[in-house]
Amino acid sequence: MFDTSDTKFTPSSAYEIVKIPETYANIIERYGVEGKYVNAQESPWVPFGVNAAIRHLAFDVRNNIASNILWIKSGGVIGTHKHRGTIVMVCMEGSARYLEYDWVAGPGDFIWETPGLCHTLVSDDPNGVKLFGWLQGPIEFYDENANFLETVDVWWYINHYETYCRDHDIPINKQMYL
Ligand SMILES: [Fe+2]
Repeated sequence: MFDTSDTKFTPSSAYEIVKIPETYANIIERYGVEGKYVNAQESPWVPFGVNAAIRHLAFDVRNNIASNILWIKSGGVIGTHKHRGTIVMVCMEGSARYLEYDWVAGPGDFIWETPGLCHTLVSDDPNGVKLFGWLQGPIEFYDENANFLETVDVWWYINHYETYCRDHDIPINKQMYL
């Protein structure tokens, strides 16, 4: 039986850097892409409509991926949208749901959305919600009459972030560009 508490399945607990063998060290050095660290506190809350804001964390233009925290500040609606990619969200604070489904996401809950899904995001929590998102592919927004409004993708997110930074004399954080 698999004993998950057996220490032979866990890595070293030594508090030190361990040099491990790497067959392709030269190739990784030439072609590998460095990992990134982004200090979230330094990324401004950029208004997204009147009752929401986005804290941008990362932009990956090769894969049309953006990562950010969406903050709906009090109970409210983000709007009907259609996905053409796959997104992952984790609820950090408060709660959110979709009018189309019967579940409510609370702190720590995991949300996965796939191409073709179309739904309307709302928060019924008086304190709103904060959602961490890893968002791949275009998201198309529609108005209440089902008229197409706008495509939100990595280019849209970069423009949203940089426009706000320029207008408020905030330096662009290059670490966010993967
Ligand atoms: Fe969605």
